[in-house]
Amino acid sequence: MHSYISIALDRTPTMTKSEQLEKLKKEMETANLPLMESNLVFGEGNIDSPVVFIGEAPGFNENEQRRPFVGRAGQLLNELIKSVGWKREDVYITNIVKRRPPDNRDPLPEEIETYKPYLARQMEILNPQVIASLGRFSMNYFLPFGKISRDQGKVFEAAGRLIVPLFHPAAALRSTEVLNQLKSSFARLPKIVSGAIKPEADSSIAVDFTARRKKETVPQGSLF
Ligand code: URA
Repeated sequence: MHSYISIALDRTPTMTKSEQLEKLKKEMETANLPLMESNLVFGEGNIDSPVVFIGEAPGFNENEQRRPFVGRAGQLLNELIKSVGWKREDVYITNIVKRRPPDNRDPLPEEIETYKPYLARQMEILNPQVIASLGRFSMNYFLPFGKISRDQGKVFEAAGRLIVPLFHPAAALRSTEVLNQLKSSFARLPKIVSGAIKPEADSSIAVDFTARRKKETVPQGSLF
């Protein structure tokens, strides 16, 4: 009885990547998630990009435009992406919490918890080689014991992917020192993607988020 059913379920992705993402987005639009008074900002960019950037939560502009990182922090992120020879549309950008917390407050732990499994599913579909987390909230998803000032810019490995925690661009707008460190860490990204820079940090603090996701309870929606 292990059987045909589980084999059929394991084979689900007869859907294309973009169909799977669209399905996940639709689920998120109707699921009873926190912050429902705000718009869903699902994420955007090249779905085949080897690198995905993950921020914290949408702000005012992102909520208005339903697009991630389109305010001041987004402008800096665009400049940083350009500075390494990439274009914004070459990469994929999203957030751990996909709706705006009121008054741009930090997302609450329970909001992060509720949105986490959706991020895991989004990463499974996108299947990027490198995940660059922006700020401590998204870093902590991959590195629960990570410390942003100690670990930013280091290359970790988790669930077959490289995780590179970076400072949040909003923090870099407030401090020249943070900005300089963010620029230096960003400059290494192309070599991390090409494999010229290998995981160098103690990956025992990284979490196999794919395995963890399987234990999390998340509405899967209908598979067919
Ligand atoms: N800050 C974030 O973390 N995400 C956005 O989309 C915008 C600002």
